[in-house]
Amino acid sequence: MSDTIQGLLSQSAKGIKPSPIREMFHLIRKPGMISFAGGMPDPDIFPVEQFHQGADILLEEGRDILQYGVTEGYTPLKEFLSRWTAPKMGREPSMDEILITSGSSQVADLLTRATVDRGDYVVCEETSFLGNTINMYNQGANFLTIPCDENGMLVEKISNAVDQARAEGKKVKFIYTIPNFHNPLGCTLSLERRKELVAVAKDKELLILEDDPYGCVRFEGDELPTLYSLDDAGLVLYAGSFSKILAPGTRVAWAIGPKDLIRTMTIFKQGVDTCTSVVAQALVYKYCQSGNLDAFLPKIVSHYRAKRDAMEAAFSKYLPKGEVQYVTPKGGFFYWLTTPNIRAEDLFQRCLEKKVAFVCGAPFFPNGGGEHSFRMCFTFASPEETDRGIKAMGEAMKELLAEKG
Ligand SMILES: Cc1ncc(COP(=O)(O)O)c(C=O)c1O
Repeated sequence: MSDTIQGLLSQSAKGIKPSPIREMFHLIRKPGMISFAGGMPDPDIFPVEQFHQGADILLEEGRDILQYGVTEGYTPLKEFLSRWTAPKMGREPSMDEILITSGSSQVADLLTRATVDRGDYVVCEETSFLGNTINMYNQGANFLTIPCDENGMLVEKISNAVDQARAEGKKVKFIYTIPNFHNPLGCTLSLERRKELVAVAKDKELLILEDDPYGCVRFEGDELPTLYSLDDAGLVLYAGSFSKILAPGTRVAWAIGPKDLIRTMTIFKQGVDTCTSVVAQALVYKYCQSGNLDAFLPKIVSHYRAKRDAMEAAFSKYLPKGEVQYVTPKGGFFYWLTTPNIRAEDLFQRCLEKKVAFVCGAPFFPNGGGEHSFRMCFTFASPEETDRGIKAMGEAMKELLAEKG
């Protein structure tokens, strides 16, 4: 960077952190690379035909759709979402409680803009989705991190953490949580903890960001109520997305929350991107309205369940016994592996030589840690690649263990 540009950068830009996953995108697209890295859906099951059938909407309504849209979102899509999400939300949200966003990462971005001043605190899982925590960090947020077990965040630890931070003069603004099939941990917040979390938010006067891109990708067990539906204090902002249940290339997602908060976020969005692509919103609407989304969901679930099972079978077959810890995820996209005797970064370098990629654990810990853990996405690679890639990973682990002696 030239000295001139360096001298002109803002204080925020000087400390800015890139997303390791985004930065890896070019690497993992290299020919021959087997990627368990990005949280990417399987392109083989993208509903290309059905999505294309909806393209006639451009001929029917092109003069509206090719125009700038309102920032709040394309009304027919909002009306569809109000009806479609009602069972999860507990009622049909009104139009002023819904905002269409450019990816659900934009929901986290707009909430942070709306609530966080530089130096303020966000409560989150100790291990969290780095795409969102890095953005919050880049906007000046600090984190109070709460450990998790296989039933999600240890919610009983939140009150003390918040009280202590407040006693030190810190401002805490919201709780960021991924309750279903957590990225990267794979765990799901239990019903009891959901109720407790909503009660803590009310007691401590905090907002909750309920980030739920994986809720529909459940392989086993019963669906649990959303935090939004359990909340009677108007403190939950729910983020949903078409990225994992239709296609991330649409960049269409939504927020449902208290209308005053939605309005403030909408004003920020006016300056960020004017509106989410109306073309994309209209195509997504047409696809959903024709019943395709509901028909596609069971297909995704059985496809990804088989992929999860194939990955776990390969773990058992190829990874050194007793060296790797994981819990089988009941949905979502990820396994979280811990290798007490191997540093994830060493394994990553060794696997890259064998043309296998994953994401190291450390960047998922906003306050540090995770050097012996890593995330494996099971949805993207083909079954044959999964077998070959995990075989190579097993060899890499054995080499590293042998070198350690
Ligand atoms: C937990 C979580 N939140 C948000 C996102 C962002 O999704 P979107 O594509 O809707 O921006 C992801 C994507 O991987 C995610 O895993």
